[in-house]
Amino acid sequence: MKLALVGAGKMGGAVLTGALRAGVLDAAEVGIYHPDEARRTALAAQYGVTPFTDDDIHAAERVLIAVKPQSFDEVAPLIAQRSAAYISLMAGVSAETIARRVGSARVVRAMPNLGARVGLSATALAHLPQAEGEDVAFAERLFCAVGTVYRIPERLFDAFTGLAGSGPAFAAVFAEALADGGVRVGFSREVAQGLAKQVLLASATLLGAESPGNLKDEVASAGGTAIAGVMALEQHGLRYAAMQAVEMAAKRAAELSRADER
Ligand SMILES: NC(=O)c1ccc[n+]([C@@H]2O[C@H](COP(=O)([O-])OP(=O)(O)OC[C@H]3O[C@@H](n4cnc5c(N)ncnc54)[C@H](OP(=O)(O)O)[C@@H]3O)[C@@H](O)[C@H]2O)c1
Repeated sequence: MKLALVGAGKMGGAVLTGALRAGVLDAAEVGIYHPDEARRTALAAQYGVTPFTDDDIHAAERVLIAVKPQSFDEVAPLIAQRSAAYISLMAGVSAETIARRVGSARVVRAMPNLGARVGLSATALAHLPQAEGEDVAFAERLFCAVGTVYRIPERLFDAFTGLAGSGPAFAAVFAEALADGGVRVGFSREVAQGLAKQVLLASATLLGAESPGNLKDEVASAGGTAIAGVMALEQHGLRYAAMQAVEMAAKRAAELSRADER
């Protein structure tokens, strides 16, 4: 068996779905582990893969750990084996900690974001020196199936979590605020929300081809409406708020990582 997935929730499920769809994984090569038998059977049926027992997990070549960090203490002894490679996407649990708890230093660490659901994750990737070339290449193929992979040093993972991991929540808050503005100027909630989403979708697509500054300058004509709105954003410190959001999220990720180094 090529891969055992431990934690087929929002993120584990998104990566599995993307990898199966892209043909990076064959359903026959994947198993899902869950300590609860009924749950593992249901999850395996949902994704069309094999339910894994305790014995199966000990025979897996590679294990993708996608449980919540707070579940890892309980999960680690159940999945530990010396000869497997581990790929973790848990926030705030270092590769060293994972290696210590599972008894194998073949550890690759990834930090995806919810863009994985639509094939647009920005995923950071780092690994311990003991990880084999094929382990790293396998992890890279897995996460390339759900977006773009950035190889960065592990010390930058908290910063990456602050911007890319948490960023979809910041963008969602901005979308909601734009919709509130729409309601304020007279649209129904439904119409305002549709307009806010469409604006962000179009802007994100345009930003694929030009810088944020250029896009703003293209929309904001002399003495016009957009520059009046931009002035209001500046007056109320939107840039400062966005920068602080990234910084606070990165700090929180670092705090959680430190709490885990016990
Ligand atoms: N969501 C994001 O945007 C995001 C971004 C980057 C990284 N991550 C990381 O992804 C990981 C999962 O987050 P999530 O948002 O996907 O959470 P989630 O939806 O709650 O998924 C966690 C899954 O783990 C399962 N689980 C719990 N205990 C287990 C055990 N002992 N063995 C096997 N499976 C077990 C849960 O199943 P039951 O519900 O049946 O117990 C659940 O399906 C976290 O470590 C998080 O840091 C998430």
